[in-house]
Amino acid sequence: MNKYKIYFETYGCQMNLNDTEIASGILRDSDIQTITSIDDADVIILNTCAVRDKAEQTILHRLDALKFYKKKKSKLIVGVIGCMAERMGEELINKKKIVDFVAGPDAYRKLPEMINDATQKIKRSELELSLEETYSDIVPERNPNISAWISIMRGCNNYCTYCIVPYTRGRERSKPFDSVMSEMELLVNQGAKEVTLLGQNVNSYNDKESGKKFPELLEAVAVAHPKIRIRFVTSHPYDLSDKMIDVIAKYDNICNYIHLPVQAGSDRMLKLMNRKYTKSHYMRIINRIKEIIPNCSLSTDIISGFCSETEEDHKQMLELMKTVRYDSAFMFNYSPRQGTVADKKFEDDVPMETKRRRLNEIIALQNEISREQNEKEIGKIHEIMVESKSKKNPTQWQGRSGTNKVIIFDNVEGKYKAGDLVNLEVYKASSATLFGKVCE
Ligand code: SAH
Ligand code: SF4
Ligand code: F3S
Repeated sequence: MNKYKIYFETYGCQMNLNDTEIASGILRDSDIQTITSIDDADVIILNTCAVRDKAEQTILHRLDALKFYKKKKSKLIVGVIGCMAERMGEELINKKKIVDFVAGPDAYRKLPEMINDATQKIKRSELELSLEETYSDIVPERNPNISAWISIMRGCNNYCTYCIVPYTRGRERSKPFDSVMSEMELLVNQGAKEVTLLGQNVNSYNDKESGKKFPELLEAVAVAHPKIRIRFVTSHPYDLSDKMIDVIAKYDNICNYIHLPVQAGSDRMLKLMNRKYTKSHYMRIINRIKEIIPNCSLSTDIISGFCSETEEDHKQMLELMKTVRYDSAFMFNYSPRQGTVADKKFEDDVPMETKRRRLNEIIALQNEISREQNEKEIGKIHEIMVESKSKKNPTQWQGRSGTNKVIIFDNVEGKYKAGDLVNLEVYKASSATLFGKVCE
């Protein structure tokens, strides 16, 4: 068994990236090695996303492209895991002959035997979702890095009408409090300087055994590791409590950055989406965040062109953006997902051309707001955590502020290394990036 070398390719959200580390940890415990070069792989595993049609098309094309490797190595095994695997199951094996196995997000403990079976030409499809699986005993196989993730929960119970995630990842369950705390300890001992707590809806974290909810978990992590930057994603507006805002404000090491997906700007759309909050409830949270954590940066997700969206709904979205003034946003056209309530009960009736135009207006407005928000930082000093060489200009370096802003700076004579904290004075800004000078 241990002669097999596995190469992972991951699509989708941070939870999926962390799942690859978990799957790799499970394989490591069975003496199967994960490698970083696709050319040397005996097994290629795609960890996939199903959130929008485009994500799935990318993966289907990638599977076709993998035939190239199969031609070079006839014994090559190809597995598809994650959300698209869960959604399509055997259909994927039938549709794409190159696929040897599919495994859903709760089936990763079976990967070693599935790979073994694949070598015997037995094609398996493991899709069972679990009410309990949190992989709490698995130590994820991580590349040494200053930033690390901990998935504190899995699944989602919200059933937003457009969303496939509750079907691909199953019911919500929380990782036991002690397990999160010991994973944190391990990461810090391994040199992590920044840890992001992950979940589809971290605010509803609820460890039944210890009775701990998210604010208590966040506080416990921040207190135990005062030198480590703590981030968390995603927050659902429905259950983001005042207590949680107070905890973020109280601890310096909890980053002043909240990703709070709004999805739509009118109560009619929010209701159709089953988001369980109104615009005024959402604005109450935003105003409270701005009051209690004045320099908190905010980002959001927006879906444009959802079923029956009118020009008036769209205008309300633009108005809400102008009122909140998000620092950044992830903006998407609605993509119908088979099996969801919206797909079964509503009509995808906004013409593609209208969807595109509205999305472009949303993106243009957000770019303008992001630039103005960033320009407000000019002259201010930010403590950044150094990350890496700048992607655009390798003579410069980049780091991230607590407010999640990327700041580029000159790292004269390579004085600073990844993980260092440096104070920078911002002197220039664009919609995506800030530029700063080191304050000695
Ligand atoms: N749990 C997170 C989001 C997970 S999916 C939350 O509730 O905020 C990430 C984003 O993808 C969503 O916030 C939504 O904006 C977008 N999304 C989900 N389903 C979609 C669909 N069918 N079409 C377009 N965008 C979608
Ligand atoms: Fe999807 Fe809604 Fe759950 Fe987020 S909260 S994963 S958008 S169902
Ligand atoms: Fe993440 Fe995509 Fe699944 S966003 S939860 S990998 S559908």
